[in-house]
Amino acid sequence: MKADAPQPPSRAALRAELEAAYAAAPVIAAPGPRPDGEALRAAYLGVLKLCLCDLGGSSTMSVDRTPDGLVASRELVGGWVKTRALGMDWPRTGLTMVGLDRLHDLQSCVESVVRDGVEGDLIEAGTWRGGASIFMRATLDSLGAGDRTVWVADSFQGFPATTEEDELAVVDFLAVSLEEVRESFARFGVEDGVRFLPGFFEETMSCIEDRRWSIIRLDGDSYEATRLTLEWLYPRLSVGGHLIVDDYEVLEECRQAVDEFRGEQGIDEPLQRVDWTCVRWRRERPSQSAPIPPPGFRSKGNGRTGPRAMKRPESPRIPTVEELELVRETVALRERLAIAEGGARSLPGSDLRRARAWLRRRFDPRRTSGPRR
Ligand SMILES: C[S@@+](CC[C@H](N)C(=O)[O-])C[C@H]1O[C@@H](n2cnc3c(N)ncnc32)[C@H](O)[C@@H]1O
Repeated sequence: MKADAPQPPSRAALRAELEAAYAAAPVIAAPGPRPDGEALRAAYLGVLKLCLCDLGGSSTMSVDRTPDGLVASRELVGGWVKTRALGMDWPRTGLTMVGLDRLHDLQSCVESVVRDGVEGDLIEAGTWRGGASIFMRATLDSLGAGDRTVWVADSFQGFPATTEEDELAVVDFLAVSLEEVRESFARFGVEDGVRFLPGFFEETMSCIEDRRWSIIRLDGDSYEATRLTLEWLYPRLSVGGHLIVDDYEVLEECRQAVDEFRGEQGIDEPLQRVDWTCVRWRRERPSQSAPIPPPGFRSKGNGRTGPRAMKRPESPRIPTVEELELVRETVALRERLAIAEGGARSLPGSDLRRARAWLRRRFDPRRTSGPRR
């Protein structure tokens, strides 16, 4: 390692940062309804944000990877509900990973482009269950801005496999079908004025190169997805439009793609921090020299190949951490039983029958709730 290479933050620094984020977590509440139209609109959008984040109850379920690479859910109770409000986790049933501050900011971006007459459609590249896009459509509808289309771009089959070690490509939980997302838009009554763009960005971005954008929301996480969507979409972002990058602060790859692109294109509009990870900037002048890349895969030279879809199970069930723990205990008990049975086999006939019956009574988890003392 070079002497001047940046050092990863220490555990103490990370802990302090996390504590600061939790201390500044957004309030989990919607404004109450009042009879005037604007107050009702604010109340509707407030309730919608809680609902999309799965923050309407007193606790919420969250999904994470376990140290042995499995995916399991756990209930967030008490102060831990802030994790969801901050958008730091994967919600078990909520429709967006984004937290409340990012949705508050998205609302103000949509309101600003409508108020200022900034021309163009809105797009989210990397939508997962579609919650943030549903929210953009709902905000437009609440303002009567039915003339703008919300574009919903995703593979609808999760992250592409580009290397054997791709961590996110193997997570089936992150693959949400187009049908499921469509149904969610319909459930919230915002299915009109929406266009879905299913497929890997590497193949779909060229289909919309002639559109004009007022809001571009990037949430594809990887270097390739961020870079590619920036290259295809940014040249057509109207002056006054917003470019939002969901994971700039926490995902090194994503930040690198944005920083490189901004440097190459001479973009000097200041980055504004939205929350602990999301940033955005508002375009102040037209494109200088953003070239449209040729269709096809572009990489940062890390040896990755083009995107490949993973084979996925029909509907993967997410166990709770408690269920996983029980499975582990059962496996351990069965192993102990097998060892003990092996020992019992060396006993003479009648002793063997008695010993086996005793062992079964004592260790078989299907008959007992645990070894008897
Ligand atoms: C972090 S999730 C998006 C979260 C979402 N914006 C929300 O509000 O919860 C990333 C999404 O990007 C999609 N994605 C990643 N790389 C992609 C690519 N190359 N082409 C198409 N979709 C991609 C994945 O399928 C996944 O749904």
